[in-house]
Amino acid sequence: MIELSNRLDGVGTYYFANKLAQIREMNSNGDSVINLGIGSPDLPPPTQVKEKLIGVLSDLDVNQYQSYRSLPELREAFAKWYQSHFNTSLDPKTELLPLIGSKEGIMHISMTFISEGDEVLVPNPGYPAYAACCKLAGGKIRPYPLNAENGWIPDIEELSKEDLDGVKLMWVNYPHMPTGTRATKELFEKLVAFGRKRNILICHDNPYAFILNEEPLSILETEGAKEFCLELSSLSKCYNMAGWRVGCLAGSESNINAVLKFKSNMDSGMFKGIQEAAIAALAHGQDWFEQLNEQYKQRRKLAWKIMDFLGCQYDKEGAGLFVWGRIPKHLAGAENYSEEILHKSRVFITPGMIFGSQGNCYLRISLCSPVDVFELAFERISHAFNKEKK
Ligand SMILES: Cc1ncc(COP(=O)(O)O)c(C=O)c1O
Repeated sequence: MIELSNRLDGVGTYYFANKLAQIREMNSNGDSVINLGIGSPDLPPPTQVKEKLIGVLSDLDVNQYQSYRSLPELREAFAKWYQSHFNTSLDPKTELLPLIGSKEGIMHISMTFISEGDEVLVPNPGYPAYAACCKLAGGKIRPYPLNAENGWIPDIEELSKEDLDGVKLMWVNYPHMPTGTRATKELFEKLVAFGRKRNILICHDNPYAFILNEEPLSILETEGAKEFCLELSSLSKCYNMAGWRVGCLAGSESNINAVLKFKSNMDSGMFKGIQEAAIAALAHGQDWFEQLNEQYKQRRKLAWKIMDFLGCQYDKEGAGLFVWGRIPKHLAGAENYSEEILHKSRVFITPGMIFGSQGNCYLRISLCSPVDVFELAFERISHAFNKEKK
């Protein structure tokens, strides 16, 4: 057995990889588990996306290596998108870098800016990749707590009292996954001022901007943000293109060039067909998001119904692809509750502890299943738990 790199010490396999294997195993035993866990959109992308991909397949150059910076047309499409949705001007030549999904961007940013021992502020609860990538890059994870009392937003005043000399980078993500908390202009202003004052790179991860959110915001709208902020966007959730792997990094020319230095040594340009398809997706505006959100609203009502039945408290104002609910006070923890639900009713709901200890008492329901599946899930859960009460 060859010894593994110590870079992997303490980095677990992504929770969902293990859970999905368990669900597959249950399915192979005939359980037909309903998975309300993972945030992988089940709805199709705009029709032009598929047409565009098929259309370019006969071009000879699709088979060739593509530019590390991607097609100029794709960067222009992202620049237009930023202008029309966020009223933010970005130079397509220098301030935008398309990526193979925003998750890879989290790794690229980490490898570009974190040296051995640098500290990284990560939200607890938050998307697990921030901490994992920090660790893989040799950094020290410094979780900052989010909770219902502070409205799931960082307490900048409290943070400012701490010794932050070793902190290089801070991850923020609004609409926040898993809680659904929305961004405000005021929060972004505070974060930009904090980054400037303490010389910390504020990295905003923004994949849920348009999901059940009437006022999408970019941190780059904030005055003076470019110098101290990077922002990740993604087509995974907003255009139902999670499997296509398209995201984008936006920020100052010098920060983008720094990330490109790492990225160009790690991968090569994105497949041209996908780039062309992404351009077609980005051309879709408000109407696209409205019809998408209508469908999510129907599903969300049923997710609330399940949360109500399970005795969980949740915020009806949440944005993003999930409903986040606090389990009843008398229960031991969300992991046990999630397992109990899975084994009694063959419905999987994500326990909040996978996003950090602040999620120990929460469950997260994903809206990525059709209404009839939600109805069946409710039926199974209510049947299993009512039977027990009798
Ligand atoms: C907060 C957050 N950031 C990033 C990602 C990764 O998105 P992408 O598909 O663009 O890599 C996810 C995916 O679930 C997410 O929830």
